[in-house]
Amino acid sequence: MQPRFLKVFEGQSQFPPPFWFMRQAGRYMAEYRALRETAGSFLNLCMNPVYAAEVTLQPIRKFDMDAAILFADILLVPMALGIDLKFENGEGPKLGSFDIEKLQYDQTKLQPVFETLKLLRQALELRNKALIGFAGSPWTVATYMVEGGSSKDFAKVKSFAKNQPAKFQKIIDVIVEATIKYLTSQIDAGAQALQLFDSWASVLDEKEFERWVIKPTGQIIAALKKHNPEVKLIGFPRQVEKELLKKFVSQTGVNGVSIDHTINLEWAFANLNTVIQGNLDPALLLKSQEEIGREAKRIIAAAKGKAFIFNLGHGINQHTPVENVAYLSELIKNS
Ligand code: CP3
Repeated sequence: MQPRFLKVFEGQSQFPPPFWFMRQAGRYMAEYRALRETAGSFLNLCMNPVYAAEVTLQPIRKFDMDAAILFADILLVPMALGIDLKFENGEGPKLGSFDIEKLQYDQTKLQPVFETLKLLRQALELRNKALIGFAGSPWTVATYMVEGGSSKDFAKVKSFAKNQPAKFQKIIDVIVEATIKYLTSQIDAGAQALQLFDSWASVLDEKEFERWVIKPTGQIIAALKKHNPEVKLIGFPRQVEKELLKKFVSQTGVNGVSIDHTINLEWAFANLNTVIQGNLDPALLLKSQEEIGREAKRIIAAAKGKAFIFNLGHGINQHTPVENVAYLSELIKNS
């Protein structure tokens, strides 16, 4: 029997809609905080297959989502390219400087991730749940590499792309190639769907979006489809405006698109010819159950009969009360 999450991609609308939440494994769960403490650091957690599989499964056991997303991070790819990576408590990621000519993808560094996927696929088969792998999109990964970490204004990376496009193209090409290898191996290790996180796609204008988002995303998807035509590819160009979202869906070859809470769901069903995933505002999970319920019911009603997967518009906030995630999960399942 196929997991309900995957049936949606075969054109079989499901009711209630299958659901999972971005960042469903994480600090809002006491079980996660305990294991992270044992592991000593976030990277140790990612790189230990037994721990990483365990934190991936924690939300599935507790809330019974239809899909589990591999516990890892989009910045493991720059790390495998030879860039120093640190996650300092409360400060977000820090990446070391690099010489473009010397970037070389060493996939042996990511072997634990593939081991995690193998463990997960076995565990999830028993529950008939889908396994989602992921990577960052080249543009978003490049922002962290060029800025050396998180950024508020993306000044460095924007001026780099504008003033030295040939050199920036090289960085994008290196990330594209590494991401294809990384995701191909994720498929081989058992991932049934893959999500490409493009968290910072919205800082680009139309021409830049075509060059740095649509084109590289399309290259990755074409290569993965060639390797395995069955795998489902979900794009997440967060907060981009509607016309660019339409272009993204029609030109990249994605099987589904994740939309944030700023996109109207009716508009998405009418204009995006693909599976829609989304789009509850994660900030609502910090509010009352009455408010969560009202919005969730609106989404579920609007999505009835459509190719839809319930999700959030972005990751779960770490201060989210666990009872609210339980409440939302039960509401979806009992709708
Ligand atoms: O969704 C999941 O449950 C799967 C695991 C996952 C993580 N990060 C775990 C994580 C996924 C899919 C990601 C994607 C990711 N990582 C993105 C794209 C999505 C988004 O949030 O926009 C980005 C931009 C990153 C980079 C990253 N990782 C940042 C900027 C940070 C620090 C900010 C923060 O939230 O602490 C991380 C750390 C990180 N990645 C944590 C988790 C659970 C928190 C680590 C901890 O302290 O325990």
